[in-house]
Amino acid sequence: MTLIDSDPDTGLAPLEFTVSRNLNAKSAAQRDEILVNPGFGTSFTDHMVDICWSVGGGWHRPRVQPYGPLSLDPAAAVLHYGQEIFEGIKAYRHADGSIHTFRPDQNGRRLQRSARRLALPELPVSYFVQSLRELVAIDGAWVPSGEDQSLYLRPFMFAKEAFLGVRPAHKVGYYVIASPAGAYFKGGVQPVSIWLSEDYARAGKGGTGAAKTGGNYAASLLPQSEAYENECDQVVFLDQDGNVEELGGMNVVFVYKDGTIVTPASPSILEGITRDSILQLAADRGHKVEGRAVSLGEWRDGVASGDIVEVFACGTAAVVTPIGVLKGKDFIDEQPTGELALSLREELTDIQYGRREDKHGWLVRLDG
Ligand code: PLP
Ligand code: COI
Repeated sequence: MTLIDSDPDTGLAPLEFTVSRNLNAKSAAQRDEILVNPGFGTSFTDHMVDICWSVGGGWHRPRVQPYGPLSLDPAAAVLHYGQEIFEGIKAYRHADGSIHTFRPDQNGRRLQRSARRLALPELPVSYFVQSLRELVAIDGAWVPSGEDQSLYLRPFMFAKEAFLGVRPAHKVGYYVIASPAGAYFKGGVQPVSIWLSEDYARAGKGGTGAAKTGGNYAASLLPQSEAYENECDQVVFLDQDGNVEELGGMNVVFVYKDGTIVTPASPSILEGITRDSILQLAADRGHKVEGRAVSLGEWRDGVASGDIVEVFACGTAAVVTPIGVLKGKDFIDEQPTGELALSLREELTDIQYGRREDKHGWLVRLDG
């Protein structure tokens, strides 16, 4: 499969941010208490980035301001028509205290692709990377240093124009908030159980499946509740032809007994940056890597025959997590687990945390 390439913006002057400090920022003691056990997505740093866009004014009024509620007109288009996109990317603290992020150009470019699909303005990649730096410059102390901990950065953009006609909004806001993070799944890297969504799809042909937009996640919540009711951690979706797509918030990867690594390829799957990186690391080790359709039948038969020797999920939040069980309405398939998922996870996180050479130049320093 084609690995994602990079296309940084050239020739754009950086934005000039106005910074207003949070006078009610948490004390160092309060912050440290949160950082001991941050969980996932429950605590937020003291500041946020806020940049405006309008049809006439382009990107303007870049600010770093105290974290806090947004004031929205009740007619804001996002509240009615869901014109919204987001990203997920982490900042990692290295042993020398420095703070780095991972392939931000790729997240910036994916945000642009999502913007195109949702008829939102494309934020230049250089502004995207700058927005992460600006937030880390003021909230860097929130990047935890514990094992597998990071600061999860959540850039997002939405239609804030007050207008009930259905058309792309003329006023948009781009924001970045940040949340200290530990493991996404409570069990850490223990194998997770997956519920097969047989009644609900996440995406359709020509739909928004490849965009990181809230509506895809909204569509996944009922099947995700079904997963919880069936004591599963996550839900996996099929396309209209019965091919495996992805989980609610992660891509899926299959390892075959000859060492080939296969991940579903389809225009309605989110192009995961973790997946791309893992496949590159596997290719570097000499594994054959394929992006192609994988039917549910191929998955189930492959596991039953021993052709498939490992199945794992990957994404920024979950990193790499083995899949231990696939459960449907009338079956439970135990999944084989092996060494490869965990060793690729280790290699990836070693690079991210600066413990191993970054041969592909994936890290970008955010502080200093
Ligand atoms: N698929 C979905 C639906 C996701 O939400 C995510 C997480 O961002 C991924 C895949 C994995 O993408 P990435 O590795 O870029 O985080
Ligand atoms: C991420 O991995 O960044 C996501 O957006 C997925 C979500 C499950 C938190």
